[in-house]
Amino acid sequence: MIPLQQALWSGRFTAGMDDSTLAFTSSLDVDSHLAFYDVMGSLAHVRMLKHQGIIPAEDADSITAGLKVILKEIQEDRFELDYSQEDIHTNVEFTLTSRIGPAGGKLHTGRSRNDQVATDFRMYLRDSTLDAAESVDKLMMSLVKVAEDNGDTVMPGFTHMQHAQPVSLAQHMLAHAFKFSRDADRFMDAFERMDKCPLGAAALAGTTYPIDRHMTSQALGFREPTENSMDTVSDRDFVTELAYCAAQTAVHLSSLCEELVLWSSQEFGFIEMADKYTTGSSIMPQKKNPDIAELVRGKTGAVVGALMTMITMTKGLPLTYNRDLQEDKRPVMESMSTIIACCDIMSKVISTSKFNDDRMMEVTSRGQINATDLADYLVTKGVPFREAHGIVGAAVRASIDTGKNLEDMTLDELKVFDSRIEEDVYDILPVRRCMERRSSYGGTSPSSTDIQISKAIEQIMMRDETIRQEKLLIENCWKDLEQN
Ligand code: ARG
Repeated sequence: MIPLQQALWSGRFTAGMDDSTLAFTSSLDVDSHLAFYDVMGSLAHVRMLKHQGIIPAEDADSITAGLKVILKEIQEDRFELDYSQEDIHTNVEFTLTSRIGPAGGKLHTGRSRNDQVATDFRMYLRDSTLDAAESVDKLMMSLVKVAEDNGDTVMPGFTHMQHAQPVSLAQHMLAHAFKFSRDADRFMDAFERMDKCPLGAAALAGTTYPIDRHMTSQALGFREPTENSMDTVSDRDFVTELAYCAAQTAVHLSSLCEELVLWSSQEFGFIEMADKYTTGSSIMPQKKNPDIAELVRGKTGAVVGALMTMITMTKGLPLTYNRDLQEDKRPVMESMSTIIACCDIMSKVISTSKFNDDRMMEVTSRGQINATDLADYLVTKGVPFREAHGIVGAAVRASIDTGKNLEDMTLDELKVFDSRIEEDVYDILPVRRCMERRSSYGGTSPSSTDIQISKAIEQIMMRDETIRQEKLLIENCWKDLEQN
């Protein structure tokens, strides 16, 4: 049983809370991660209460001093949580009041835990969103680096997991890179939308005190206050949106990882991962397993699950705050840290892997991966594409039967399929030429991938500048609240 006098709201009750009620309703395990933001929110709030003359200056000063002590304890990881208090907000307020006396009770003037938790969580997620975008960019950069070194490394491009057309390793790596670029952009878009301050929405309807929401919003580094108090305390779409951003990134990661797992198999032999990023087998001495890539692929499940959790949890909730909303933190906090960890480690895996050009070339030269090029060649000789397709189909069949690649057939052998084939066909048949000649915008030729590389680097640099500025702005707010 929790003694009634320990509750911040004992007035209405005649008995304390049952231990099991507290254990079931407590969110402290999760929202203790919000401690730093909770105190920052309170520092901004009390500054505003003082400025607006809502509470006496001396009370505000003693609250501020008390909060700064708590802040220091949190930063040094020695703030003691009291598990008889159900969440981080009550913990901070309870500790403050037990230290500075009744003045501590004035901190909660003109606000509620409903706007408080929304503010704390936005501040927390603002940071992890910037960190996530940064990690995604780091991974993207490692892919771009591989592309820079491999503009002329030929490998098979696949559709339906069948050899389709020759591409460069650069083109393949950049394909993944641009997916991650959109992921990082999505995180930044979500950041923009969540960068509004809930504080002052109070329980649901705003407050009768002459608060200044613009002041607290600015002090906490938000662009502006949210517009509607009822929307504010019931809104969790900023959380769901991030859950989606994370899920989409995880899906992209898992497809990259799936390929890396395949590519490091004996059958493919396209890459060898560095020893320090692979694991051995406890029983089979020859093995070098791509466990990191597999784990990243596996973690997609939980990250996608978090999106399902959010979307289902918020469905059909009446306005405004309902305790259901407390369940929003763990899944998305975990999603965000999973994405950051996955991107960080995958960027190391990518930048330390050895790509086996010879093997990729050998595999590309097998089979009839240049068939489209032969058809395109016939088109340049005036053959309608559909007809050319049929002619080359017959050539491919013969190639399979004789085990002789198209480029290895003599001109006489090729002319059997169409008399319009001339000596210059040997300029377009080598697989390297097939790759080099696809120089359309966005294509796989070295000149096309060079353009893509510049674009990719430009995207990373622009984003990184925005991230740097946003982090600096937030950092300055913390300094200001800590020092003034
Ligand atoms: N722990 C709560 C949460 O995460 C804080 C807000 C509690 N508000 C309330 N009216 N019980 O949502």
